[in-house]
Amino acid sequence: MLSATKCSQVWALPVFTDKFCEDFVEEVKHFEGSKCEKGRPNTMNNYGILLNELGFDETFFNEFREDYITPITSILYPQWGGGGLDSHKVFTVKYKYGEDLDLAYHYDNAEVTLNICLGEDFTGGELYFGGMRTEAIDLLQTKPVLHRKGYGIFHRGQHLHGAMKIGE
Ligand SMILES: [Fe+2]
Repeated sequence: MLSATKCSQVWALPVFTDKFCEDFVEEVKHFEGSKCEKGRPNTMNNYGILLNELGFDETFFNEFREDYITPITSILYPQWGGGGLDSHKVFTVKYKYGEDLDLAYHYDNAEVTLNICLGEDFTGGELYFGGMRTEAIDLLQTKPVLHRKGYGIFHRGQHLHGAMKIGE
């Protein structure tokens, strides 16, 4: 079920069911609405949630990385550390009118990134990719990649990318 995209070294595959996405978003919203202290994933988005703060690492993501992600990345990115993923940082990014609308062009501090679309109603917000961090690729030459609810997009952390503005 893994499919190539029009960008080299960028792959798409179904990861979560619709029901899982909906339950997951509901849980994140509960946390957002709580008085619990919240760290933010990075300086580029102001409304994301660090999922280890909800206890997801011990109950879900450690096993998810070891048993499901690494077997795939070891095949897709063997020469870029895909076979030896020994840690992870999992967070949500939220786009909403009046809050953050897009995600600036950047690279990740990771060997490999899996970006999963959790859905909700929106237009726009497509991921786009340029070249690797060391290549000078103009923003105008980047390519969008279709993202769908429940699907994951694998890419190298070094691969420059961003998310387009959501529509109205
Ligand atoms: Fe990123």
